[in-house]
Amino acid sequence: MQPQITVLDAGGQYCHLIARKVRELGVYADVAPSETPASELKGRKGIIISGGPSSVYDAGSPTIDPALLTAGIPVFGICYGLQLIAHQLGGTVEKGERGEYGFAELDVLDEDTLLRGVSGTPGVSIPVWMSHRDLVAKPPAGFRGLASTDTCPIAAMGSEEKRIYGVQFHPEVAHTPCGQTILANFVETICGCTKDWDPARQIESIEEHIRQVAGSRNIFFFVSGGVDSTVAYTLCLKALGPDRVHGTYVDSGLMREGETEFVRESFAKLGAKGFFVEDARKRFLTALAGIVEPERKRHVIGEKFVEVQERILEGDNYMDGGWILGQGTIYPDTIESGGSAKADLIKTHHNRVAGIQKLIDAGRIIEPLSSFYKDEVRAIGRQLGIPAEMLDRHPFPGPGLAIRCLCSEYEGASQKVEEGWILPIKSVGVQGDSRTYRPVLALDRFPASEAEAAALINRRSDVNRVLATAYSQVPLGELRGHAAQLTAERLDRLRRADAIVRRLSLAGGFEKEVWQFPVVLIPLGTATHPDSVVLRPIDSVDGMTARAVRMPDALLQEMSKELAAVEGVAAVFYDLTNKPPGTIEWE
Ligand code: XMP
Repeated sequence: MQPQITVLDAGGQYCHLIARKVRELGVYADVAPSETPASELKGRKGIIISGGPSSVYDAGSPTIDPALLTAGIPVFGICYGLQLIAHQLGGTVEKGERGEYGFAELDVLDEDTLLRGVSGTPGVSIPVWMSHRDLVAKPPAGFRGLASTDTCPIAAMGSEEKRIYGVQFHPEVAHTPCGQTILANFVETICGCTKDWDPARQIESIEEHIRQVAGSRNIFFFVSGGVDSTVAYTLCLKALGPDRVHGTYVDSGLMREGETEFVRESFAKLGAKGFFVEDARKRFLTALAGIVEPERKRHVIGEKFVEVQERILEGDNYMDGGWILGQGTIYPDTIESGGSAKADLIKTHHNRVAGIQKLIDAGRIIEPLSSFYKDEVRAIGRQLGIPAEMLDRHPFPGPGLAIRCLCSEYEGASQKVEEGWILPIKSVGVQGDSRTYRPVLALDRFPASEAEAAALINRRSDVNRVLATAYSQVPLGELRGHAAQLTAERLDRLRRADAIVRRLSLAGGFEKEVWQFPVVLIPLGTATHPDSVVLRPIDSVDGMTARAVRMPDALLQEMSKELAAVEGVAAVFYDLTNKPPGTIEWE
């Protein structure tokens, strides 16, 4: 199937958000590197150039094939994309000193084309989301300003004759309520695209594709219990029948309570015959004994997965010619994205198993979901009859509870500062492009507002997180940090705490309001109760950035009460930190 719209990636995460929004209009859109030659984009009905963190004046900043701007195909530039169009066609881009981030009010000057239907009620302001440093000061010849804001004279511009448009704000984000109208104006009216995209109706052709690629060979999977590998496995199962599809689940002992049984039952219900559990709990725990440093923990876990998978590949004869490897890779995983996205992904993938690399190199691999986004994978899963409790699960990291069970080498007391207490433990954070490993600030109360929490972190450069205290057995100053490792006892404690949190947030409907809800165990407590629990509910689109979410007080009280009763737990904290500067996981 040929895409009608291609989004050119000018850096980072924006391109996928835009492609997803176009697909929500029922139009097939894909993503390609910004420099893709115009000759490779023949047949597209429109091109969108994404935003990105660069300045058109930076050396080596993303650019596009200039032929695209004279090819007669409609082009729509967003943020950096707009600046790039202006720059290439002879307009003026001004280098911004400070930048503008957040809401702005749009003043629409021309509502005939791109901005049709945007202004709604006269006199009522139109909020849009801005995130930029540079701006277009003068549009190129033949272009008109279509909208402005207080600080941005060319918030939108266009040339009807050239069929080229651009906006400085981000129509793809939820903070721009009129964004989908603008995208629809471009895609439907200006480009004339027709509806051709409905993932749930493509199941038959995906299955046909699986049969073609497999031929007479069988398919095996390493399944994780996550949405993607489960849906991919089910598609193969339907395409080839249960006798020809195997799935092995590696039980690392780092999973949540009841996870192995849940996955086993789910696969049985889906009709899987060749589903196996590899019990590797002892091997992982032994390898992790004595390890404290976060990156080291990840490395050891990665190595163990490699070792266990290698053994299964060889031991079960999957390397002989009769089998190919199935994987739940989804669309964003297949794209080389620029900027920080790439760096951030590095740690989310385990070391590549040599056997798997060999299979990939030999083309003995099938990835039935490689053109779909997560929400589309869920739609396919629903159509296949996979239960909601499987499809609507929060994402869960591969290294599992190991990165939610904080370890430490040090004993130590908390330090009193004006704002609260600096706890004697360190967690991972992210600032700019680099990771930080710093202590956290604990308050004995909840701040009055989200902004107050954010201001506290900005004020203190020695911490990367701020917590509120929901419960403590003793005054905060009496809690002590202690040396701690990944032991079976601490993992069990975390598993119990995590199970309580999950049960209560599911029952109260809070689980649905957040994107992910890590529960973290930290080595801070008393002689009899050595650890504390941190609640970290967040909202996010893709995990790249995240906002801390407050739960209702009644739920928090109930949760704290049950957590306080868990053996060995001295206190319950609530993480109020957005990402950045905190990461989602504590490591
Ligand atoms: P951070 O902690 O970097 O996490 O803010 C961002 C998102 O990535 C998930 N995560 C992982 N997922 N393997 C995974 O499959 C990993 O090694 C891994 N590390 C972090 C994390 O849960 C969050 O959703």
